[in-house]
Parts: sequence; structure tokens; C-alpha cells
Amino acid sequence: MRIGFLGAGHIATFHSKMLRASGADVVWAGVHDVDAARSEAFARASGATACRTEDEVLDGADAVYVCTWTSEHPRLVAAAAERGLPLFCEKPLATNLADARTMAETVRAAGITNQVGLVLRRSPAFLAVRDLVHDPAAGDLLTVVFRDDQWMPVPGAYGSTWRGDVAKAGGGTLLEHSIHDLDLLEATLAPIVAVAARSGNRHGMAGIEDLMVVTLDFVGGATGTLTSIWHDIEPRGSLRRVEVFCERRWVSLEHDWTGPVCWSDADGGGGVLGEEALGFGENPDGAFVEAARAQGRAWPDFDVGVRAHEVADAIYRSAAAGGERVTV
Ligand SMILES: NC(=O)c1ccc[n+]([C@@H]2O[C@H](COP(=O)([O-])OP(=O)(O)OC[C@H]3O[C@@H](n4cnc5c(N)ncnc54)[C@H](O)[C@@H]3O)[C@@H](O)[C@H]2O)c1
Repeated sequence: MRIGFLGAGHIATFHSKMLRASGADVVWAGVHDVDAARSEAFARASGATACRTEDEVLDGADAVYVCTWTSEHPRLVAAAAERGLPLFCEKPLATNLADARTMAETVRAAGITNQVGLVLRRSPAFLAVRDLVHDPAAGDLLTVVFRDDQWMPVPGAYGSTWRGDVAKAGGGTLLEHSIHDLDLLEATLAPIVAVAARSGNRHGMAGIEDLMVVTLDFVGGATGTLTSIWHDIEPRGSLRRVEVFCERRWVSLEHDWTGPVCWSDADGGGGVLGEEALGFGENPDGAFVEAARAQGRAWPDFDVGVRAHEVADAIYRSAAAGGERVTV
């Protein structure tokens, strides 16, 4: 299977390395980036062929990764779908909900394998939290405090500036980064039925919020909060911390892939799952290749991506209305 890459930046490089680590029987085909130096560097490092156009990549691939900045995803997904190519598209799918829905319809109509870059769905730490929360011994879910902080990514660790341009990114810390969190809150805990949000923008980039504080109502009656922030504290890097209270169990998570995950129970029980106990989990890129080879359903697919966009859209509408409660 020949794998093509559109976009040759930070996340394309990550996927290329993860593909290599997966041991999948694939060939690095073409790579195209509008910044030719990036295509060439990616080609040198991976063994792919640097291409001058996206068509060259699409014509020479059996499956493709769409890893450009967000505003280019819809157009490139449509071009890949037109050729019937299985595709992996990074999150967020698009800069807005309407485009994300159109993309999901496009891949459905084309009948192609599609996967979205909500890779934390496979995090062993979040899967452990999910199991602990849904264990009948925990009782009902009461609340969650979900905090996600990231060092301001403009220019920041990513070495690019498009995250400061709303036309390319669609939004700030919520859409660009915490769309993972919206997906995880539902996958780990319960569906979200309503939100109320306030946003902040201290860095002054138009349309790029650097703070979003959200109150979340879940199916079943639990209420929780998500705080998403882009800050300037470089030594801190980026971290997620989650605490969940159930009727008879408290669960915490400190690192989004490796843990530790800790819990304490009303009867005095409890425990800690560290990196070793959690294991590495399933390689998302290896899983994509397997699904593409079988021409089957990949996971998480674009429908999962659209659902996260629906929650994000409701949050932006709430924040624009000064914190009004908005149903999802
Ligand atoms: N799943 C995750 O955890 C995760 C992490 C980081 C980034 N992302 C997502 O991945 C995407 C890319 O982010 P990044 O960090 O790699 O950014 P990046 O700036 O490192 O790379 C993006 C690249 O896309 C190129 N590009 C733009 N338009 C193009 C086009 N039409 N054809 C070819 N190349 C084009 C740019 O020149 C740039 O090199 C974004 O949507 C981002 O939200 C996801």
C-alpha cells in the first residue's frame, strides 16, 4: 500500500514515525507541502518522494494523510474522495461545523475508509478512566473537572504561525486543541446535552480565543467543567489533568497517554495505574492502514469528528451569547 502525505509539518512527521513504528507493510509514496522545503525535508527523513503538486501525490497513492492547516482539509478530502482513496484527516476536520458535516457526507457517499486524528481515543490512560467510571462499583457519575493547558502555539513549539489566523484555524484553544477534550469527555464519561461557556482573548489575535471555560451538562444529570487555556509558561509545556467524582469513587488522570491514573473508593479501596501498567495502547496509524487495506470502517471516523464539532459549535454560540445555556 502506497501512502501519500498532503502537508509535511509537525503532525505529518508524527504520523510518518508512528506508521514506521507500527510495522505496517506500506511504502512511503508522494509528499506535497506548499512550502517546498518542508516537502523535501520530509522526503529526506522518510523516504517519500517530494512532489510539486497535490495531484502528483493523489495519483501515486493508495491511501492518503491530510495533514495541512485546518482550512485546507475540506478541499483536499474532497479531492482524495473523488479518487476513491482511503484517507486519514487531522482534527479538527474543518474550521466550522457545516464544512465538517459536508466532509462526512462526501466520504460516506464515496464509500471510502476514513479516520480522523482524534488519536486520544486510543489513550490507555483515558480508556482506564472510562473503565473505572463505568464500573458499577463507582455508582453514578456526579461531576468532572477537566483542565487542558497548552503553551501558546503561535509561534510556540509547532514552529508555524497559522494557529493565529482564524481563516486557517477556525478558532483558538477550543477548536484547535480542546476538540480532543470534547471528544474524550463524551467517550470517557457520557454524552453532553448542554453547555454554557465564557471565552477570553488576552493575546489579542482576532477570533483566536486563548481561554474557554465551559460548564457541561451530561445525559444522566451530571454537571462538569472544562477549562482550556493557551498560556505563555514555556517551561510547563502542555498538560491535561482530569478529576472525576462518582457516587462511590474518585478518579484522576495526570498525563493524557501515560497516566498515572489514580482512584479512591468509599470503602477504602483504590489504586494507581502508571505507565507500565497502562501499556502503550493501540497505534492509531497501524489501525488506519489495517482498515484501509480491508476497505473497512476505520475508527474514530469522520462521524465521530463531526460530533465533536457539534459540541464545539454549541460552546462558541454560548460564549458569543455571554454564557447562555445552549443545548447540543
Ligand atoms: N491530532 C493531534 O493531536 C494534532 C496535533 C497537532 C496538529 N494537528 C492538526 O494537524 C493539522 C496540521 O498541524 P501541524 O501542527 O502539522 O501544522 P504545521 O504548520 O506544522 O504543518 C502544516 C503544513 O501544511 C502545509 N500546507 C498548508 N496548505 C497546504 C496545501 N494546500 N497543500 C500542502 N501543504 C499545505 C503548510 O505549509 C505546513 O507545512 C492541523 O489541522 C492541526 O490542528 C493535530
